[in-house]
Amino acid sequence: MPLSPADLPAVRGALLSWFDRAGRPLPWRVGPEGRRDPYRVWVSEVLLQQTQVARGRVYFERFLAAFPTVQALAEAPIEAVLKAWEGCGYYARARNLHRAADVIVREGMPTTYDDWRALPGVGPYTAAAVASLAFGEARAVNDGNVRRVLARLHGERHPAEAWVQARADALLDPARPGALNEAVMDLGATICTPRAPKCGECPVRAWCAAFASGHPAAFPAPKVRAAVREIRAVALLLGDAHEAVLERREGNLLGGLMGLPTEIIRDGETPGETLARLAERLGAGVTGELGTATHTMTHRHVTLTVYSGTGGPPRSHVADAALSRLDHKALGLWERRQASLFAGA
Ligand code: ADE
Repeated sequence: MPLSPADLPAVRGALLSWFDRAGRPLPWRVGPEGRRDPYRVWVSEVLLQQTQVARGRVYFERFLAAFPTVQALAEAPIEAVLKAWEGCGYYARARNLHRAADVIVREGMPTTYDDWRALPGVGPYTAAAVASLAFGEARAVNDGNVRRVLARLHGERHPAEAWVQARADALLDPARPGALNEAVMDLGATICTPRAPKCGECPVRAWCAAFASGHPAAFPAPKVRAAVREIRAVALLLGDAHEAVLERREGNLLGGLMGLPTEIIRDGETPGETLARLAERLGAGVTGELGTATHTMTHRHVTLTVYSGTGGPPRSHVADAALSRLDHKALGLWERRQASLFAGA
């Protein structure tokens, strides 16, 4: 039987009492419901858009330790912000956080969905999360978890974006919008999981069309994914894992971060030719191959072959720079090489 509007109060009640009992104690969930610290909520929501909660917690604590207030964030140099964001990916988000912090310090903390939306980098999801969790505004969030939970509840295999938003708006509890949003997030993360939902523990299975179908994981139908682009590149480690030549990356491959000097292998080019081009650009010599590091981002898979070399521009202190995970993996190759040389000596 399809979920009818008459069922919504009971579904809300079941979700909220489950959340009150089983909701996860997370570091940004402090303070009275609907009146949390908007800065902490904002930072956590931006972080969690690209990171699982387990890892997001660690990054959140690190970022808050570096910038405990929006003033501290606004006053920090962008390099320090990128450094604190290291490993979180999507560095444009860190840049936008920094820019928005500056606006907030000058113009005051926004208190409504519409005013949050006006800040750099704040989309409908983040604005709805902050407005509901920190200000008690009745705004429903809509992300992958919400989409899955609602698709299953209503038995919709192909939920369109507007459909999900309309169902989420209808389900929202006007008295406890933040708690309802987080109840759906937690349900999606811990019970209504993509592949093996734990329907036996679900507080709303009595109303769930996907549960009734006997094939809950078939909802929603898998999305056709955009192809992942394969990128092959070579890098030169001039120095060691502590002091090395670093360059600021240009373009959209980890642009803005510092990294080992790198060249992408062009169509029709051999890796040897790319390496020669890189060495010539740097005025460096190549001494050996350290190995290959791979890294997968949303739409790109990078295979980076790392070489050691001599000469080239002055070295920088690696620990002071904001590096991507790909570069950390590349430097790890040097560490591994040292360890094996040492073991073999
Ligand atoms: N994912 C995104 N936002 C979240 C939140 N506030 N709590 C738990 N998981 C989340």
